[in-house]
Formats: sequence, structure tokens, C-alpha cells
Amino acid sequence: MHDRPHGEAPARALPYHEDPAPGSGTLPARAWWAESDAARLSLNGTWAFRLAPTAEGTGSAFLADDPAATASWDRIAVPGHWVLQGHGAPAYTGVAYLFPVDPPRMPDENPTGDHRRVFDLPEGWPADGETVLRFEGVDSCARVWLNGQELGTFQGSRLPHEFAVGHLLRKSGNVLAVRVHQWSAGSYLEDQDMWWLPGIFRDVTLLHRPDRAPADFFVHAGYDHTTGTGTLRVDCDVPGRVTVPELGLDLATGEEATAPVEPWTAETPRRYDGELVTAGERVPLRIGFRTVRIEDGLLKVNGRRILFRGVNRHEFHPETGRTVDLETMREDVLLMKRHNINAVRTSHYPPHPAFLDLCDEYGLWVIDECDLETHGFCWMPDWRGNPVADERWTPALIDRAQRMVERDKNRPSVVIWSLGNECGTGAGLSAMAAWIRERDPSRPVQYEHDLEYPDSDIFSRMYTPHDEVERIGRREEEPLADPELDTHRRSLPFLLVEYAHAMGNGPGGLSEYQRLFETYERLQGGFVWEWIDHGLAKRTPDGRVYYGYGGDFDEDYHDGNFVCDGLLFPDRTPSPGLIEYKKVIEPVRITGDPDAGTVTVANGHDFAGTGHLAFTWTYEVEGRRIAAGDLAVPPLAPGERAELPLPPAPDGAPPGEAVWTVHARLADRTPWAEAGHEVAWGQLTAVPRPAPVPPPGPAQAPRRDGGRITLGPGVFDATTGRLRSLAGVDLTEGPRLDIFRAPTDNDRGMHWEADAQVSVHWERIGLHRARHRTDAVELTDDALTIRTRVAPNSRDLALVTVYRWTAGEDGALRLTVGVTPEGDWPCPLPRLGLLLGLPAAYGSVTWYGGGPGEAYPDTRAASRLGRYGMTVDELQTPYVRPQENGARADVRWAELRTADGTGLRVTAGPDPFWFTARRWTTGQLDAAEHTPDLEPGDTVWVNLDHAQHGIGTQSCGPAPLPRYHLTAAPAEFGVEFRALSGG
Ligand code: GAL
Repeated sequence: MHDRPHGEAPARALPYHEDPAPGSGTLPARAWWAESDAARLSLNGTWAFRLAPTAEGTGSAFLADDPAATASWDRIAVPGHWVLQGHGAPAYTGVAYLFPVDPPRMPDENPTGDHRRVFDLPEGWPADGETVLRFEGVDSCARVWLNGQELGTFQGSRLPHEFAVGHLLRKSGNVLAVRVHQWSAGSYLEDQDMWWLPGIFRDVTLLHRPDRAPADFFVHAGYDHTTGTGTLRVDCDVPGRVTVPELGLDLATGEEATAPVEPWTAETPRRYDGELVTAGERVPLRIGFRTVRIEDGLLKVNGRRILFRGVNRHEFHPETGRTVDLETMREDVLLMKRHNINAVRTSHYPPHPAFLDLCDEYGLWVIDECDLETHGFCWMPDWRGNPVADERWTPALIDRAQRMVERDKNRPSVVIWSLGNECGTGAGLSAMAAWIRERDPSRPVQYEHDLEYPDSDIFSRMYTPHDEVERIGRREEEPLADPELDTHRRSLPFLLVEYAHAMGNGPGGLSEYQRLFETYERLQGGFVWEWIDHGLAKRTPDGRVYYGYGGDFDEDYHDGNFVCDGLLFPDRTPSPGLIEYKKVIEPVRITGDPDAGTVTVANGHDFAGTGHLAFTWTYEVEGRRIAAGDLAVPPLAPGERAELPLPPAPDGAPPGEAVWTVHARLADRTPWAEAGHEVAWGQLTAVPRPAPVPPPGPAQAPRRDGGRITLGPGVFDATTGRLRSLAGVDLTEGPRLDIFRAPTDNDRGMHWEADAQVSVHWERIGLHRARHRTDAVELTDDALTIRTRVAPNSRDLALVTVYRWTAGEDGALRLTVGVTPEGDWPCPLPRLGLLLGLPAAYGSVTWYGGGPGEAYPDTRAASRLGRYGMTVDELQTPYVRPQENGARADVRWAELRTADGTGLRVTAGPDPFWFTARRWTTGQLDAAEHTPDLEPGDTVWVNLDHAQHGIGTQSCGPAPLPRYHLTAAPAEFGVEFRALSGG
């Protein structure tokens, strides 16, 4: 208990872990370089570990040389988080602090991990100079001893900290002891929406620093697009020479030289090998020349406005949390490049420095964001106590800015410094911005959460609806009260630093955002929230892996699956959202006018021509390839387009719907993908889908026979009028109207905004419990008509639904459904279509329609017309929290077959349908909380939807655009069923 009255200064000095000062004993911040001829020793590996419940830790015995001190302790992997290695548990909150808000104090309960490692110096470790002990990241506060001597303390989890240790080192038996507190004053600055994961989670290294080796250097490498020259100057604290053999450069540190160069861009990440040589060390340099400027209200690189096709990336691995190995970092970069992503915001902290090196190498624009978020203060009146508005914290804020900027300043990929995320407003932010501008005037500074943007060179927002983004694009946004600030803000370029919340099924509305970005030059793109689901691996008793989220680790307070909102599943499998994003942001647009016989190719790159792409075409009839060839596209400069003649339609093509598909693929292997990798595609209709033909021969008459009615190949229940079987295919459930879907995260909306939850309306009116009443079963000469009323429980709303069955002489059964709403429907419908059940054996599906992946009305850009085959199991999208998924768009026909080939074919009436099939009911899908909760039943449930409600991104952001609302309105749709014989 702290007994001081609220607001009074504490009587005693605060212990280091509760002191807002950033630490003591550490060396000044400096640049990171991975290679040099100076000796280094990794101290990663297995360390002794013991967890204590309070900041006292385990006492002082573990500092001693005595090996017995930790003989009985557990072993832990460093880097790593102890809560993911059997000590304590992870916990997830999006905004809330997990401790009382009483800055800078912490409760007595403060899990504290004492870590100890004994090491020898390698043979020949140099005796001269200094040796530095470097921590790349420790969450959240550390106190460090070497050979019993205290080195100091530090806070700032995702930032490096170094100590000079040469004077303490022994040849062998060095005892390194590190006490890590989960909670510290620094935790108030680290309220990012993510798991709370304490530990030494990044590398620990011993670095020899020879005499007259640089402590730090700053590579200034600009590019003048008007002359095509690069200017190089390397500032260094010790004298030395800089050579770049390829450019014939050999200059002194501090000296400036120019040479004609190829600039660095994310599309053309040209780097020049060089070397910085001082008397004490040779450091390889990889220099990228580029210049970032805000000019004419636009953010320009090398003189051109650029367009960010970005993602927000947290560091995450489902087994190791924020400890991410180099191969996983590389995988992230490769996946980004392969999905047309060109930018990363390192939300919400500087990543492992090796990640930025990969961004330099492969080419990604980076917003490097400081390790700073104080969002949990938003619940206090006027953000009372917010550290960014309390000068006691300013040194810590500046320390964080310094550690980021100094570490990453030599990375060409870093084009913007971000002060942090969601901290409200305060003078501390201005102090950070001022320090950064002074130290590195070559990059703009960005901060989103102060809507007046006094400290930001960029106007930025999050989750802004399309119409507002459009107004901003026109520089017609609502004015600020202060005209001066308004003028400043109106002059700035605009970024959506977060948009398109990729939680569960979605995000919807990407195409419409992209259209805005490509229309208004002020709108320089955005960063989808976010890259990867932070689902932590768990195992069922029988060993199947699934992913846990908030609440799965005995947390008493948590934010559920809000932590799973990425374009990748936790195991890094791309979700449909990433496939959609890849299509929406493709840097080459292929459109055309098949009537005029032309195809148009537009180069949307900012810097690259199209010379690296090879264009091909295919001509398909009903999804079968009839012809294919190369398309000669002249090289197009950025922004250029060419209208080209399509090849003539192939001779002798069979009748039926035909499409051209034009692909842009990599002509040659690149560092990030193989030759042939598809970058962009476009489909053009050559022959439209023919209108359905009326069945041959006279219409057959239905016949009643006891409890059954037969019509053509169909056998119906005479009381309910429901179809029971079709030419030997027994249905477990005959087709009937279905209007419910398992609410997606976007349907469920933001849990703190009840009105935003369309799923709450659905539940309130009982849509998930719709009842069917048969009012009439009418047999006429040419049809069987079933009149029904489908109505949600508990309300006087209804959909009067009339099924009209007909049969000709072709063995098919046709169904037309007419739907007329009754009552005032207060909300859109989730879906409108038919549901039927088949025995489990009908597990393999072939369809002609959109694919291969799932699509919904506002997530269908990547769905391409073709003929596809999958099992029912493969049709499922394994969202971490199960929800509606797996629809295929624009389906013309679908066949479900058993292993012996017996099957059912469903053909669309005038309008194609949305096809969904799964081995559980919508109710079961809705009830499931994790993927293993879904157990296959004995029925394959098939939805043939006439319409679906849009997806939107209301889990954090706008609802589906009005045009994607499925409003209850009169509708008519039809399908044809036909049995398929096996063999
Ligand atoms: C933003 C925040 C992110 C994340 C997101 C919702 O407001 O910056 O960190 O919380 O919302 O997933």
C-alpha cells in the first residue's frame, strides 16, 4: 500500500523501476551495424531463470560466482519471454493497463525474472579497447550486474541499451545477472494493443570496441533527381575513410562527394557496397541514395509523390511472441513483397534492427515508430496523468526518440519517423519532435493522435470512413478552430496510418479506399491494420495445434480475440484478406474493352518500369482453357498506360461464356520471388454468360402419392413440401430459405459500441432462430408451389417465401423462390438464399464461378472466374475465432460428389449465387470459440445465396458501404438441381 495522499510527491525516492527517468549507467544511443571486423560474442542461449512475485526478485545470491547459486533454477531460452516458457502466463488487453493507473508507481505484485548466464570469452578476445554489453530488447525494465558489479538499469522495452563492461570482464567464468521487472514506470509508456510479454526477448551480445573504432556514424546519402547524382557524407566520431568502389568514391569521414547513382526506392532497392575504415574497425556499408521531402503538400521521394500500399507490422510469432528469428523476419518481408505490399509501419515500436536491414535489402518503405503508447489514459478525465503531458517524463520520451533515431538512422528504407501511437496530446511529444528534427532533418516526423497536428509533417488518421477520406483528398476537410493550425494541417499530405481492420472475415471496402488513393494525390495510401493475427499456439489434449487469444490464459480481464486482426493467420498462412489486398493494390492495372478488342495496361509503379514483367493471356470457355499466348506490352514508364489489341478470339471455340485473363508475371527471378510469380491480372468478358434456356419438352405435373409428392426426378414431403430426394440423391435437408450467418468479427462490431453491432440487431430480433411455416402445398399441371412464411422469433417481421418447383424432360428440377418482406425490418439481413443438407459423403466440390478463395460483396476483387475443385474441408477458412467464411462468389454451377462420383449439380438461374459448404451448422459455427470446437457432423450443409450482406470493417472502423447492405426487399431467384451418376 502506498500511503501518500493523491497528487502529493512521494516521501522517499522512487526505486529505479518506478522512476520515470529512463535508467542509469547506459552508454549513449548510437547506430546499429550487424557486421564489422571487431569481435562479437552472442550471449543468446540457455540461461538460468527464476521468477519472483515482487520487484525484490530472488535477492542477491544469483550475482555471485558460486555455481550453486542457480543450480536448482529452471532454464530458459534467451531471447524469450518467460510467460511463454512455463512461468506465469501471457495476458492481452487492447487499451487497459493491467495495473492501477498511478504513474509512475506500480503495485507490489510485479513479476520479476532473475536471469543468469555464465560465459567465457572466446580464445583471443582482444585486450585493447572497450567491450560493450548490448541488449536489443528487454521488456520492461532491467537491472544488470556483471561479476557481482552493478552496471545500471534501463527501461524502454523495444530499444537497445548498452553498458561498457571491459573493465569487469574475465577470461572465463563471467557471471552476467539480469533482473527483469514486468512492470515499471516505462510500462506507462508501453500500452500498445498486444500481449503483455515480459522478458529478455531480443539478442544479448558482447561487442568488442577496438581503440579508435567508431562509437557511432551517420550515413547521409541523398539523391538529386534533377541531376541523377547521389551525395554522400558519412559523419563519424573518429576520423576514417569511406570507400564505395563501384562509384569510385574514396573520401574522408565528414567530407561530401557526389557521383551519378541509381537511387534507392522500395521498388528498386539499389544499394552500393562500401566500407567505413577507421584505425580501429572496418565496417561494411550498404548505401542507398534517396531523398525524402514534403513539397507542394505531398510526400515525395526522389522528386516523386509515392503511394504507400502498406501494412502495420507487430513483431509476432505464435510460439515465441515478440521474439522473432531472422528467418521469420525474412518470411514476413518476402510475403509482403509477394503480395504487392510496399510499405510497413512498425507498429508500435522499432522492430528488431535486422528487420529494417531486410527492408533495405528487398525494398519496403518504412515508418519507424517509437516505442510509445499511453492509450490507457483515455479513460481518465482529460487524459489526467498522461505522461506525454507531464514534464517528469520528458527525459524518458526524448531518450526513446534518441534510441530509435540513432539506431535506425542509416537505413534507407526508413522514410518517416513516428513519435508513437495513441498518446493523446502533450508537450512531451513536441519535445521529441524537436529533438528528431534537429538530429535528422532529412526525414519527416509523423504523429497521428493530436488532431491539430502541431508536431507532425503529415496529416494522418485511422479507420476514417471513405467519404471523409475523400473530403480530405480534396483538401475539403472540416476546418480546425484555429485558422493557423488549420492552414498548416490543410497543407499536409495525408496517410491512413491504420485502416481496413483485418479482424476475422474481411476487411471489406479495400477497393473503394484504393480508388480514392489513386484519384487524389494528397491521399498517399495507407497501412492495413494489421499484418498478423497474434494468436498464441495452444494444443488440444490429442496434440492438435490451435490458437489462443485474450481469455485463454486465465486472465481475469482481457479483450478477447481483438488481438487476432491480421492479414496472416498466426502460422503465417495468408488469409483471404491478404489475397484481396494483393489484388486491390496491384501496381499494374489490366482493364479493357473486349467489344473494341482492346486491353489496357497501366503502370502504377512510382519508379519502376514494366520491363521486369512478362504478360500472357488465356482464353477460357466455361473455365476451360481454349488458347493461351504472350501479350506484347511495350515497356511502360511509371504512370504510363498502353491500349493494345487483344488477340483474335480463337477459332472453333465452343459456345458458352468466355473470358480473357491477362497476367503480369515476373519475367525473371527476383530476390523475393521466382520467375513467373504473378504480380497482377485482369479478366475481360469475351462472350457473356448465355441466358438460361427453358427446359425441353412440356412441363411435368407433380403427383401426390400418400405422404409424398413426386415431380420429375424429385420426391417431396407432402406436408411440408420439402424436397427429400432427387434421382437417388437423398437430401438430409431439402432446400429452404436461410437468412442467418455466423456473425463475423465485423458484424459483431466494436464491443464497446453496442450500436455499431449489426449482429446485436440480428440477435435481438431473433434472426438466428427463424421459424418456417408451411401455408400451402399446391399442385398444378406445371408446378409444385409451396407457400411459406419465414419469420424470426419474437417479432412480427417475416419473409413470405414462395417456392415454385418445375421439371421438364431433361431430368433436372428447377426452383424459383420469391421473397416478400413483411414488417419494418430494422437492420440488414445477413444473407438471403437457400440452405440444404447432403449426406457427409458428398465431400468433394467442383464449381465454375469465382475463386479460388472466399469472397463477399465488398471483398471480391481477388475472386476470378474459373473452374475449381476442392474438398468441403478445403473450402473452410480457419479464422482463429470461428465465424462465417468460405463463400465463393458468382457461382454459375457447383457439383458436390461422393468418392464414387455420384453427385448433385446445382446450376444458377439468371443470377449466379454465392456458394458455401461446410460440415457443421451455422449455429455450431457461431457457437465455436476456437477451431477445434468445430466437429464435422454427418451432413454437408450447403448455402446457395442470392445475396450476402457486406463485410465492412466495423470491428474497428466503418460499416459496409451502403451499396453493400442487404436490405430486406422483395427478391426472386432460382436454381436448377440435377443428379449426377457416378463412375
Ligand atoms: C488502433 C491502434 C492499434 C490497434 C487497433 C485495433 O487504434 O492504434 O494498436 O489497437 O486500433 O486493432
